Amino acid sequence: MQNLNITFIGGGNMAEALISGLKQSGHSSQHICVSDINEDRLRDLHQRYDVKIDSDNISAIAHSDILLLAVKPQQMDAVLAGISEYLPSGLTIISIAAGIHMLRLKQFLNSEDAGVVRVMPNTPALVGAGMSVLFSDADEIHKKRAEYVLAASGETAWVDEEKHMHAVTAVSGSGPAYFFLLAEVMQAAGESLGLSKELAAKLAAQTALGSGKMLVESGRNASDLRTQVTSPGGTTQAALDEMYECGLPDAVRKGVAAASKRSRELAA
Ligand SMILES: NC(=O)c1ccc[n+]([C@@H]2O[C@H](COP(=O)([O-])OP(=O)(O)OC[C@H]3O[C@@H](n4cnc5c(N)ncnc54)[C@H](OP(=O)(O)O)[C@@H]3O)[C@@H](O)[C@H]2O)c1
Repeated sequence: MQNLNITFIGGGNMAEALISGLKQSGHSSQHICVSDINEDRLRDLHQRYDVKIDSDNISAIAHSDILLLAVKPQQMDAVLAGISEYLPSGLTIISIAAGIHMLRLKQFLNSEDAGVVRVMPNTPALVGAGMSVLFSDADEIHKKRAEYVLAASGETAWVDEEKHMHAVTAVSGSGPAYFFLLAEVMQAAGESLGLSKELAAKLAAQTALGSGKMLVESGRNASDLRTQVTSPGGTTQAALDEMYECGLPDAVRKGVAAASKRSRELAA
């Protein structure tokens, strides 16, 4: 896999996260090419990651094995229309654009042996702790290639039906923002109880990190871990009673449902 040529069309935040992950996993920068309409951005990526750069999407994909489409959803049709006649044989096409269906991506394919993989990553990919969920009905070789690219910046999982991408978007795609909100509110609450801004921010951030690590590494589920740290009649119990009383679980359920509904609307 490390000798495969990977081209990114769109060199924004998500592309950078994936490029950084690939480089750290040992993929040579000489096998990574980025194409973007923003020349300053290209120069910046070249300086920091030593990747090849190209301001023309067609020449950028000429020798590619894997094409990663990392433009905004509203830019996708124009990009695909521009390159559809020039796709190299056997190309694996990975789209990380939110809400762009497989059917829409395939409309632009002229190559019979190309395979398309749709992915919903999330922003913790920027620090190598992403969660990417993949869907594809392509041959195994394309799925393995996509998994290779995404696994370089975090964990991967597959769904076997495309419709699940809406729920995935609502849980892990938008999910980092929910945890950031909680950290934001905990920090503000700490400050209002007399802590300095810096200390309150550190307590919220490190508590989020430590709790996340326990969730991932302890082998225990969230409910068990919560029960374990909640002594009857203690401080945690007092906090959770109040949070339940204020409807926190219901607010989260409704929020996730709203994100899923919005994902369906945007994809329609
Ligand atoms: N960020 C997230 O949390 C997240 C999570 C999951 C999925 N995604 C998906 O990831 C994709 C990329 O997101 P992002 O945040 O990285 O976007 P971004 O920072 O806006 O990056 C997109 C880049 O593509 C460039 N571009 C626009 N049209 C182009 C064209 N015709 N040819 C080549 N390059 C072109 C843009 O240039 P200009 O800025 O000059 O237009 C920009 O540099 C989106 O589809 C998004 O849905 C993002």
